Amino acid sequence: MFITKTFISTSIALALACLSLPSTSSASPLEGLATRSPKVKVYHTCSVSGSAALTFDDGPYKWHDQLVNELNKKGAKGSFFLNGNNYGCIYDYAEQIRDTYNSGHLLGSHTWSHADITQLSRRDLHTELSKVETAFKKILGVKPLYFRPPFGNINTEAREVLAERGYQGAFLWDQDSGDSVGKSISYSDKIYRKTSNTFPTPHLVLNHETYKTTVKDVVPQALPELQRQGYSLVTATECLDLGDDSGSWYEHVGGREERNDSWQC
Ligand SMILES: *[C@@H]1O[C@H](CO)[C@@H](O)[C@H](O)[C@H]1NC(C)=O
Ligand SMILES: [Zn+2]
Repeated sequence: MFITKTFISTSIALALACLSLPSTSSASPLEGLATRSPKVKVYHTCSVSGSAALTFDDGPYKWHDQLVNELNKKGAKGSFFLNGNNYGCIYDYAEQIRDTYNSGHLLGSHTWSHADITQLSRRDLHTELSKVETAFKKILGVKPLYFRPPFGNINTEAREVLAERGYQGAFLWDQDSGDSVGKSISYSDKIYRKTSNTFPTPHLVLNHETYKTTVKDVVPQALPELQRQGYSLVTATECLDLGDDSGSWYEHVGGREERNDSWQC
């Protein structure tokens, strides 16, 4: 009995050893590929002391100009994560987007339709990204290299797809003005006051350019508040020391185009 048992377990061990050799060697190229696949970096906050990056999602929309003028007036830079077709159609804001780009603000992608990228197939995610890239190419002659995931949702697969397409970073946030969940102006003001009081701790702040109150009330108050405490208001790339000139924020892919029938949402 004892001998038989030992014999059996030895046989099993041997069989397993034999099995594990081919299975390991056939699985490892795939596994190796999966672990070696580059993944885009995800940033949850800023790193440069004394800097704050105000970010604005979901545009372009009808208050875009006003917001950019407000930032320009105060010598502040913003970061805009644009959709292709969400509140507005990106092609209808081409002139405004060019002005924003020329004023040195950061423009990044937020997907074409504000999709939850963790719910998409790889193929659909490629489409969501490529349509925004096409719009950037036509409007600006560049491809965006920075991204903000809608709803803040991102996973390994999406990070791999973003890296495959050449993206250099995905930004989340450490402060949320609360505008997209219906918080009041006074709530957002309080968030900014609290944020200001932590100077020089760097911050990455979430806002949406699609709320009138964000553009007309919250931001005009927040900018001087932050600056009074000493914050320098820079792009998300600058507050993370990822490059301080737009040469590294985009890939140049040709000249801007003239509007024609292909500019459709
Ligand atoms: C629009 O313009 C681009 C660039 O000049 C050109 O390649 C494309 O064929 C045009 N498309 C249409 C539908 O006119
Ligand atoms: Zn969004």
